[in-house]
Amino acid sequence: ELEADSVLTGEEEDESLLLSMSSSSNKLQTREGWWTTFVLYDGCWMDRQAAMSVSLVRAQFVPRDDDVLLATYPKCGTTWLKALAFAITNRRRHHVVGAGDHPLITQSPHDLVPFIELPFRHIHPLAAALDAISSPRLLGTHMPHHLLPPRVGCRIVYLCREPKDVVISTWHFMNKVIEGFSIDFDKAFELFVDGCSPFGPIWNHCLGYWNKHVEEPDRVLFLKYDDMMADPAGHVKKLAEFLRVPFTDDEADAGVVEEVVRLCSFEKLSCLPVNSGVAGRVGVDERPMKNSVFFRKGKVGDWKNYLTKEMAKKLDAVIEEKLKGSGLTF
Ligand code: A3P
Repeated sequence: ELEADSVLTGEEEDESLLLSMSSSSNKLQTREGWWTTFVLYDGCWMDRQAAMSVSLVRAQFVPRDDDVLLATYPKCGTTWLKALAFAITNRRRHHVVGAGDHPLITQSPHDLVPFIELPFRHIHPLAAALDAISSPRLLGTHMPHHLLPPRVGCRIVYLCREPKDVVISTWHFMNKVIEGFSIDFDKAFELFVDGCSPFGPIWNHCLGYWNKHVEEPDRVLFLKYDDMMADPAGHVKKLAEFLRVPFTDDEADAGVVEEVVRLCSFEKLSCLPVNSGVAGRVGVDERPMKNSVFFRKGKVGDWKNYLTKEMAKKLDAVIEEKLKGSGLTF
C-alpha cells in the first residue's frame, strides 16, 4: 500500500516511485519553463506532484458503474461543466427556478463536484472522501483517458475548447495562480505548441476522449466550449438526456432549462461572493488559490487579442496535423 506522506519526500524517491508506476522504465523526460519542472509521465506532461497524484489515483480510486466523470483539459470550461451537471442532476432536490438558496450560490462548482486527482497532497483522505459520496457520484478529472484508473467504465462527459483560446486562458491562469511565478506569453505559447502544458499535449488529451466517444458514443459524450456558448440551452438538454435525467415537457414549459443556463452562466457565477471574493481552496502545487481564478472573460475568440497571425497559423497547423484523420476539428 502506498503512503502519500512517506513517498512525497525527496525528488529521487518520487522519481523512482513514479518510474515504477509508469509504463516506461527509462528516466522520465523533463522540461523547465512552468512554475516547476514538468515530467512526461506516460505521454502526458505534468509536474511531479500531479504525476504522483495521478499514479496514486490509478492505484487507489474505486470506480462505480454509476459514476459520471466530467473530464476536461484544463481551462476548457471545467467550472462551467461542473456547475451545469450539478444543477441538472440535483434539480429535484435543489430547485433552480427562483433558487436563492441553491448550493451554487454559496459554494464553488469545484467543491460540489470534486476532482478525483486533486488536491494533490491528500490522496488518502481524498480517496476516503470520494468513497463517502453517495451514488450516483459526479466527479471531475483532468486526467487523459489513457491514464484513467483501469476499471473506470462509467459514463464520461468530455469538454474541450479551441486550443488558441486555451493557451490564452492557461497563460492568464498560471500567472494569477502561483504567487511569485510569472511566465512570458511567448514562452508559454512555445511550451504549449510543443505539447508541454499541464496535462498536455492538448491534442492527445482531446484525441483520447474523442476516440472513445467514436467507439462508444452512448458512454462518452463529447462537447465543445464554443458550441455550448453558441447554444447553451440545447446543450443543457443534451447533457440532461445523457445524464439520464431529461427535462419533462412541464419543466421545459416552466423555463427550467433557461434557468439552469442562467444560474450557471459566467455572468451569474463570477459575481457571486464565493467566486469573486477571498474564498478559496488548495490549488496548484498546494498553494492557496482564490475561487475567482476560475473566472476571467468567458468569451470565445479572445485569442485574437493576443496571438499574432504567425502564432495562430503555427498552432492551427500543429493541431490540424495531430488531429488529421480523426474526424475531430476545432
Ligand atoms: P477564459 O480564461 O477564456 O475567460 P476551467 O473552468 O476549465 O478552469 O476554464 C476556465 C475558463 O472558463 C476561463 O476562460 C473562464 O473564464 C471560463 N468560465 C468559467 N466559468 C464559466 C461559465 N460559467 N461559463 C462560461 N465560461 C466560463
